Amino acid sequence: MEREKPIAFFDSGAGGLTVLALAARLLPAENFLYFGDTANAPYGSKSKEEVRALSMQAAKFLVEKGSKALVVACNTATSAAVDLLRQEFSLPVIGMEPAIKPALAEGGKVLVMATPLTLREEKFRRLYHRYATGTDEVALLPCPGLVELIESGIIAGPALENLLSTLFRELNTAEITTVVLGCTHYLFIKNTLQKMLPGVKFIDGNLGTVRQLKRVLAAKNLLRPAGNPGGQVELFASGGEPSLTLLRKLYKIAFEQGEGEV
Ligand code: DGL
Repeated sequence: MEREKPIAFFDSGAGGLTVLALAARLLPAENFLYFGDTANAPYGSKSKEEVRALSMQAAKFLVEKGSKALVVACNTATSAAVDLLRQEFSLPVIGMEPAIKPALAEGGKVLVMATPLTLREEKFRRLYHRYATGTDEVALLPCPGLVELIESGIIAGPALENLLSTLFRELNTAEITTVVLGCTHYLFIKNTLQKMLPGVKFIDGNLGTVRQLKRVLAAKNLLRPAGNPGGQVELFASGGEPSLTLLRKLYKIAFEQGEGEV
C-alpha cells in the first residue's frame, strides 16, 4: 500500500538531517529514507546545471527505493531543481526556501544567510522582490566555506568562529535584529551564531516544510494512521564511510535539539 512506504529526504550532505529529525519527531508513525550526497557536497558553490543533474540522481535513487513523497531538504537544490523534479517524478515533491516572509514580519533589519547559488537564483530573487519593500531592511550574505566546515564535522569552536567573523566583516552586525538561516546546514551552528550575534532572533524554514509535508500527505490520504509504530530511519551517503558515520552522529544531535509542533 502506497501510504506504508517511507518518506524520502535528500541534501548535499548533513544539512537536511535537521529537517528529517524534526519530521521524525513530529510524524512518529512514519518511516524515513535519507540520502546525503556527501561525495558531491557542497552544492552551493556549483553551477545550477550541476545541481540539477545531482538532484535528479539523488531523487532517482530514493524513488527507486520506493518512497511515497520526496522532501528536498536543501534550499540550494530546491532553488535549482525543484521544478525539474516535479516534472520528472509523479510522487509529491516538497521543497524549501529561505524563510524571508516571517523574518520581515518581525520588523527591524533582516540578515539572510544562504549559499551563493541560492542567493543568485531566480527563485530567491522572486521571493525577495515579493516581500522586501525597501533595500535597507534586508542584507544578503552568501556564506562560502561554511557548509564545507560543517561537512568536516566542525559545528563549534575557533575555526568556525574565525570563518564567521570573516563572513561578517563587511556587515554592521549591531543593527541586525533577525537572521534567516537559509541553508539547512546552518541549524547545526545556531549556538555559535547566537553567541556571536546576541539578542538576535533566528528563523528557519524547517517547521514550515514539515507542516507542508504533513498537509500534502494528508490531502492525498498518504499519512500512516497515528499510533502505528514508525520511526525507522535509513541513512545513505554517496561518499560511503566515513561520511555515513558523520551523518549518524549529526542526526542524533539534530534529533536531540529538535523543536516545534505540527
Ligand atoms: N544544505 C543545503 C541548503 O540548504 C546546501 C548546502 C550546500 O551543499 O552548499 O542550501
